[in-house]
Amino acid sequence: MEYHAPAFAGDILEVHTHLDKLGNTSLELRHEARRPADGVVVAAAHLLFVMIDAQGRPTPVPDEVAVFFGRRASTRTGEVVRYDVGEVTLAADVRGDGPGLFLIHGFPLDRTIWKHQVATLSGWRRIAPDLRGFGFSDAPPGGYGLATFADDCIRLLDRLRLPKAVFAGLSMGGYVLFEVLRRHRERVAGLILCDTRAEAESAEARRARDEMIALARDEGPAAVAERMTPRVLGRTTQRTQPQLVVQVREMMERATVAGIVGALEAIRDRPDSRALLPTIDVPTLVVVGEEDELTPPALSRAITEAIPSAAMTTIPGAGHVPMLEAPTAVSRVMAEFLEAARDS
Ligand code: MLT
Repeated sequence: MEYHAPAFAGDILEVHTHLDKLGNTSLELRHEARRPADGVVVAAAHLLFVMIDAQGRPTPVPDEVAVFFGRRASTRTGEVVRYDVGEVTLAADVRGDGPGLFLIHGFPLDRTIWKHQVATLSGWRRIAPDLRGFGFSDAPPGGYGLATFADDCIRLLDRLRLPKAVFAGLSMGGYVLFEVLRRHRERVAGLILCDTRAEAESAEARRARDEMIALARDEGPAAVAERMTPRVLGRTTQRTQPQLVVQVREMMERATVAGIVGALEAIRDRPDSRALLPTIDVPTLVVVGEEDELTPPALSRAITEAIPSAAMTTIPGAGHVPMLEAPTAVSRVMAEFLEAARDS
């Protein structure tokens, strides 16, 4: 740190921070304290940060920090980048080369539920976006709906110049996929439907959605997270992976009120997709956590039976978010399915 000139009590100083370098595991910042009255630089400092884990080993700069400093796209290393897709800007983790694999999160979660699959499913161009209202994506005050979510995804695919992709969706991500099939079927090379359902909402379930909407508006995302966390993760996960319970709760707390309300209205008003299932003619894998209470395995079985060439895998010891609760098992079944789908 260099001191160039004195500053006096009552002086107004501006502190400017510049990013000099953003590396894989480090970043360098330059600070300058300047007195706007006469333009004198009072002090300047150069700070080098190296990210380390609990063992003191260098570890990658966290996505949030890299994005805050405006890191740009690189499909080589994979990073979260915000893409202008017309009406909104969507954040997405885009990694690898190969045919497209488009991963859509559930409610009220974000792209990070797929972080293990994004990290491991090499040979595919993995694209995990935050839907509007969630994660680092824009959260406009209104204008949500399953059709809008589906169109946003396709616009992102356009931005990435991918004519087609295998689409995976968790729960609400599955509802979005049914909409992608209705509106953009020619873009779908294969389907992975995780812990989802094809039915529309019952009258009772619609009332529960309205209650949750009121809760989000009155008390905010933390109250929604409080209500949902115990139901989202399986009992085995709750017992054996307390850190994951905290992570999922924090992920939900980061959602915006606009996103939560918009998504709940979309979920509440969704159409019945059962008639669509027999028309699906792309390779399809259905995945469900054995301990899923929100969308129990029976619903996945019904979907599998209705799609002419679908296969189903049940993930032991996992609840509604098996890609996070049992990441290795989910990545393995996805890799096997993708390998077969690539050849078909
Ligand atoms: C989800 O995970 O997306 C939600 O459980 C969907 C729903 O509540 O229907």
